[in-house]
Amino acid sequence: MTTALISLALHARENAYAPYSNYGVGAAVSTDIGVFSGCNVENASYGLCNCAERTAIFSAVAAGARTITAVVVATRDGGSPCGACRQVLAEFAEPDCPVVCVNETGYVIFQTTVGALLPAAFTPRNLTR
Ligand code: THU
Repeated sequence: MTTALISLALHARENAYAPYSNYGVGAAVSTDIGVFSGCNVENASYGLCNCAERTAIFSAVAAGARTITAVVVATRDGGSPCGACRQVLAEFAEPDCPVVCVNETGYVIFQTTVGALLPAAFTPRNLTR
């Protein structure tokens, strides 16, 4: 599964719209209803840039997914998800959900989990009473 997700993330990165940063990112997520991918989409109004991870997650959720079980992020150097994306991941993934960061050739730079990326996360469970 990880190999397929890596291919998806690398392919999604080819569609990155990153004319300002020149830092293309691709992401792929495995979910309860299948796999989804996304790229970063930048904007001339810089604050509106959307990360690849959130593009992939929001596409999955818009298609009906509710649980993310694996994540791959592809960048030129194996960069890891930003803080905002970590919080969005924590909404839909258990703490043990694997997160694999690969470089532009698909080489695994490091592997971690959603829980390790965002310890003591504020999650939907906090709002359940
Ligand atoms: N970026 C992502 O797509 N994911 C991350 O987790 C980190 C940053 C994007 C946002 C922006 O388009 C570019 O990388 C440089 O920050």
